[in-house]
Amino acid sequence: MDREERIVSPEQKENDGFFDQTLRPEKMEDYIGQKKVKEKLKIFVEAAKNRGEALDHVLLYGPPGLGKTTLANIIANELNVNLHTTSGPAIERPGDLASILTNLQGQDVLFIDEIHRLNKVVEEVLYPALEEYSLDIIIGKGPSARSVRLDLSPFTLVGATTRAGLISSPLRDRFGVINRLEFYSKEELKKIILRSAKILDIEIHDQGAVEVARRSRGTPRISNRLLKRVRDFAEVKADGVITTSVVEQALELLEIDELGLDRVDHKLLKTIINKFEGGPVGLNTMAAAISEETDTIEEVYEPYLLQLGFIDRTPRGRIATAAAYDHLGISPGGNTKAGLFFDDENNSDEKTNDQ
Ligand SMILES: Nc1ncnc2c1ncn2[C@@H]1O[C@H](COP(=O)(O)OP(=O)(O)O)[C@@H](O)[C@H]1O
Ligand SMILES: [Mg+2]
Repeated sequence: MDREERIVSPEQKENDGFFDQTLRPEKMEDYIGQKKVKEKLKIFVEAAKNRGEALDHVLLYGPPGLGKTTLANIIANELNVNLHTTSGPAIERPGDLASILTNLQGQDVLFIDEIHRLNKVVEEVLYPALEEYSLDIIIGKGPSARSVRLDLSPFTLVGATTRAGLISSPLRDRFGVINRLEFYSKEELKKIILRSAKILDIEIHDQGAVEVARRSRGTPRISNRLLKRVRDFAEVKADGVITTSVVEQALELLEIDELGLDRVDHKLLKTIINKFEGGPVGLNTMAAAISEETDTIEEVYEPYLLQLGFIDRTPRGRIATAAAYDHLGISPGGNTKAGLFFDDENNSDEKTNDQ
């Protein structure tokens, strides 16, 4: 399936921009859930403000759509400073970083998204900036080149990543505050959905919000996207009000099951079960079998399936759990019960042997 049309993808899509912007909480008190992270940050922000110092550098990590960018914005707002936003791949050369850093003023926040994608050379220029707020730059070329040390204004780096494991340890060591964002509970997602509905002037029943929450894969971005789709359905097929039955009908039409799994998830699980006899199957083999990138599988599909307990990662590869068989209505003997949610094209027979 085309990633662009995958409704339950937690990654930001082009037409999410406006939506993300309008619905993004701006203050800590409007940021729902992530209690531990919030408590910690509130204390550190308060302490930094009281001392009149820049907040320690903050690393935020976790699957896409859980509120990392939102939190970076909130941190800057709570500190009453400017936020400068960039991303790992956007900073190509040390000079790019130097110009960003020299533009920071009094305790500003620099947000680097996808910080695991910073290149080595740039990363090394960043270290002294993080430790001593200084920058060593080389002026001139050849024998007349000399190194000049520039003082920077104290600042806070907020780094975000979906892949904490890919951050080098010297970089990781320079963050004073490291926060892992967790998937949200159904109750938290319900609150987020009701808040969004209010902002967008959508009428939704409490139970309708619960049903959207249940299918949101623990991810606020997906909650908001589903809300938008369900609203369309409610306006055209019902009287505009989002009830339980409207949610059920809309999501069935969109082929999203009662746990928020779509065709791709079903395909992944069924591939493990049917093609590889429940696993273990290596990541590369799996990626080839369902024609997806290994990174995408690891960052996007697997976290939620692991969270549900539908797959396990073992040293020899991924295995499908009994819960997955159960959800798909497949008996461990391999017989598919009638009335399976997706009776899809996954019975093609090509074999892959890339391991
Ligand atoms: N804790 C939260 N409370 C309310 N809404 C949230 C929260 N976290 C995320 N959102 C919503 O989800 C959207 C995506 O969050 P974002 O910060 O862009 O995720 P990430 O940067 O981790 O991919 C935001 O626009 C916001 O509307
Ligand atoms: Mg983001």
